[in-house]
Amino acid sequence: MKKILITGASSYVGARLYNDLKKDFAVTGTYNTNKLFEEFLRMDITDYNGIYKTINSVSPDVILHVVGNPNARWCEANPKEAVKINEDGTRNVVNAANQTGAKVIYMSSVAAINPVNIYGETKLAGETFAKDAKAGYIILRPSLIIGLSPNTSNDRPFNRLLRNIDEKTPAVYDTSWKFQPTWIGHISEIVGTLIKTDTFYETISITVPELKSRYDLAKDILSHFNIPVTPKNDNDKTPVIIVDQKKLEELSLPQYNYQDIIEKIVKEIEGGFLRS
Ligand SMILES: NC(=O)c1ccc[n+]([C@@H]2O[C@H](COP(=O)([O-])OP(=O)(O)OC[C@H]3O[C@@H](n4cnc5c(N)ncnc54)[C@H](OP(=O)(O)O)[C@@H]3O)[C@@H](O)[C@H]2O)c1
Repeated sequence: MKKILITGASSYVGARLYNDLKKDFAVTGTYNTNKLFEEFLRMDITDYNGIYKTINSVSPDVILHVVGNPNARWCEANPKEAVKINEDGTRNVVNAANQTGAKVIYMSSVAAINPVNIYGETKLAGETFAKDAKAGYIILRPSLIIGLSPNTSNDRPFNRLLRNIDEKTPAVYDTSWKFQPTWIGHISEIVGTLIKTDTFYETISITVPELKSRYDLAKDILSHFNIPVTPKNDNDKTPVIIVDQKKLEELSLPQYNYQDIIEKIVKEIEGGFLRS
């Protein structure tokens, strides 16, 4: 069974990947401050010696590098810290991978395509480091990620929707910024397929084809739970990034449209899937 080490396995994204991938692989998760599962190992992404020691002792075939600060506003306000975590942290992981022979799958973002802010710039720099992984690399570019994770408490967009449901609060969401959402389970499926088929040296955008707003997502999910959603216009000037599905098609990877992922997410929530 192939061994995978997931950095940032307590994050919103990492926790779902950990949960899904451990069905097919021997998965080790690392955390920094939040030990979401008892078996996780501590790894500070700014401490190269510690990273090397952990990676060397686990000796994974593949490192799925998820650690990163995803908050664009925080990165703008804390540029040095953003570089330390998103850029230097990725370089540390790749250097350790090169010393141990591991392949690297890097969780980037569509924000790395023509970056317009520090978050995008640091994710793009991370991609450049990821390409130095000698045994093989994959760069994944999701857009705004939605779907249920074992981590329901981090302040991430999807967890805010869950809070609307739990607290039965009327919700108000922006209509101005449009993006092609990414279902969190789609990322797990793609990572699993890439590792099983030993597909590397690719950069892959993972989204649905349709452009939607935060208001659309909230309305289409929360309406199933009888939570009213009111539109507001934040005049958000974040550029619209359009990606196509050609790479998913070329590599025979799963593809979903918007309606598919909404149905899956509503089922996940209804089933209480993963939630305590
Ligand atoms: N959420 C999205 O919509 C989205 C979209 C595109 C790409 N991404 C990418 O996906 C990744 C995860 O995003 P997320 O939304 O799941 O973030 P999140 O829930 O806010 O988690 C951030 C993660 O970074 C870890 N971390 C921060 N500083 C660290 C350090 N010094 N050493 C080790 N770990 C550290 C945290 O560990 P602890 O909690 O243990 O401290 C946590 O696991 C990021 O790389 C992000 O760029 C996210």
